[in-house]
Amino acid sequence: MMEVARSSGEAQRRCLAWRAEGLRVGLVPTMGYLHEGHLALVRLARERADRVVVSIFVNPTQFGPDEDLAHYPRDEAGDLAKLERTGVDLVFFPSRDELYPPGHETTVSLARLPNHLCGLSRPVHFGGVATVVTKLLAICLPQVAVFGEKDYQQLLVIRKLTRDLFFPTEIVSAPTVREPDGLAMSSRNAYLSADERRRARVLFETLCWARAEVARGERDSRRLGALMRQRIESRGGVVDYVAIVDHETLDELERIDPGALERGAHAALAVRFGATRLIDNLLLTSQADRDCPAGRAVTR
Ligand code: PAJ
Repeated sequence: MMEVARSSGEAQRRCLAWRAEGLRVGLVPTMGYLHEGHLALVRLARERADRVVVSIFVNPTQFGPDEDLAHYPRDEAGDLAKLERTGVDLVFFPSRDELYPPGHETTVSLARLPNHLCGLSRPVHFGGVATVVTKLLAICLPQVAVFGEKDYQQLLVIRKLTRDLFFPTEIVSAPTVREPDGLAMSSRNAYLSADERRRARVLFETLCWARAEVARGERDSRRLGALMRQRIESRGGVVDYVAIVDHETLDELERIDPGALERGAHAALAVRFGATRLIDNLLLTSQADRDCPAGRAVTR
């Protein structure tokens, strides 16, 4: 039977009791309005743990003043039904006051990772994510927590804070789940008009095209980035950033040489269609077709 906890005390008691029984606890933090991408994380947590906890909390501190906090999609009943079907032991559904009680004053921030990619246009975002994930890890003390590679910078931030703050939690990442046309699943896709939705497939197409270019020998990130930008703009996307970055530091790479590919290089982007900001990323490799069906890799 799936249980629902609304207070942090209740959630913590449950998780500590499982730990005391020698059971492995797996945590999947979410903001709800769940889709297959979220459910894939839940299934991975099931494989890695004996008890799975999913938290649903639209965290106000990770939204900037002009962002979509008030409109962020919610569907509590639908989410609970999906989690019950997928096989979850505990859903933690805290209120705002529960995670940020009156008088709270502690936050978590990172010095370097947020000064890249999404952090540049969303200055409060990663501090909010780091703070809320720290709270969720401290409440549930899971042996394992699962996060998606779609939010790649967030994944790095969480790996770093877990190490820096000595949480006894293994951070496991899950590959990005995509719609049939390649668009990364996201709760925010619900904001797109039919026309924007059709155009948005250009994001994954462009990432696949970039990977193919690199496999064909492109080494100049600036040229590659400019061509990626053109492709996206030709479909009506407004580019926040397109970048080729080191997969650990997120520093921009000037050249995509074999050493950089060996260490790991990502093409990452954030693009607006209308009012909706979408992000995606892809690991660059010397094999053009990994994860990218041929029909998608080459579009003109
Ligand atoms: P949310 O956007 O709801 O995402 C919850 C988790 O699902 C994150 O780890 C995210 O990377 C993952 N995810 C989202 N779309 C995915 C997809 N298409 N494929 C695979 N995984 C996907 O990310 C957040 O919430 C919040 O910032 C949170 C970490 C919960 C902190 O508030």
